[in-house]
Amino acid sequence: MNHKGTEFLKSNRLILRKFEPEDTSMMFQNWANDELVTKFLTWPTHNDTQETSSILNHWISQYKEPETYRWCIALKENKIPIGSISVVSINPHVESLEIGYCIGKDYWNQGLTTEAVQVVVDFLFSQVAANRIEAHIDPRNESSGSVLVKSGFRYTGLRRQVAINNTGICDVITYEILKDDYFSENNRKFF
Ligand SMILES: CC(C)(COP(=O)(O)OP(=O)(O)OC[C@H]1O[C@@H](n2cnc3c(N)ncnc32)[C@H](O)[C@@H]1OP(=O)(O)O)[C@@H](O)C(=O)NCCC(=O)NCCS
Repeated sequence: MNHKGTEFLKSNRLILRKFEPEDTSMMFQNWANDELVTKFLTWPTHNDTQETSSILNHWISQYKEPETYRWCIALKENKIPIGSISVVSINPHVESLEIGYCIGKDYWNQGLTTEAVQVVVDFLFSQVAANRIEAHIDPRNESSGSVLVKSGFRYTGLRRQVAINNTGICDVITYEILKDDYFSENNRKFF
């Protein structure tokens, strides 16, 4: 792979950029302190902006590593930060990356996460030269499954009670997309 770090990306309605310390209050208000947003996630809902600030500082310190991919998703129109999308793990032996994402509930069901996933998938295949991208989700998180299917990922299986999130021990389903899928004629309709 050809790691590039968190490069600036954009789509029709979004910009994807590095987080900055100034994002603390919007991140806290828009998604990090909302139990509905964190329900199927592994990190606890933030109780105060100090928690948000300290995780942001940690993330920002990681940007010097070219293997760090963590974007703030912001609306192009008014620059408001609405969520995040990241590469959460890397398996360099098989050139495989796992992604994760979340956005504030005021912005759900407008196709915005799908737009962010598609731009990140394109970057990871075209620029980083990944061979495979996967995402793991709780089967009850149906809208997250929809995002992945709309972005050309395929469902590849369920593991029972293999993980823990804010609801407790949970099943996990995997969706994946290969470079060959992405660049194949049929799949191009997704992008
Ligand atoms: C999951 C999440 C990222 C989806 O974001 P989003 O911006 O609403 O996603 P999109 O609008 O791009 O697509 C959502 C799709 O799910 C569909 N959907 C919504 N609720 C659904 C449900 N209960 N069952 C099935 N599909 C559902 C929507 O109709 C939409 O599909 P459509 O465009 O074909 O109509 C967002 O809800 C979120 O941040 N949730 C909290 C964090 C999280 O769970 N992250 C994922 C962890 S893996």
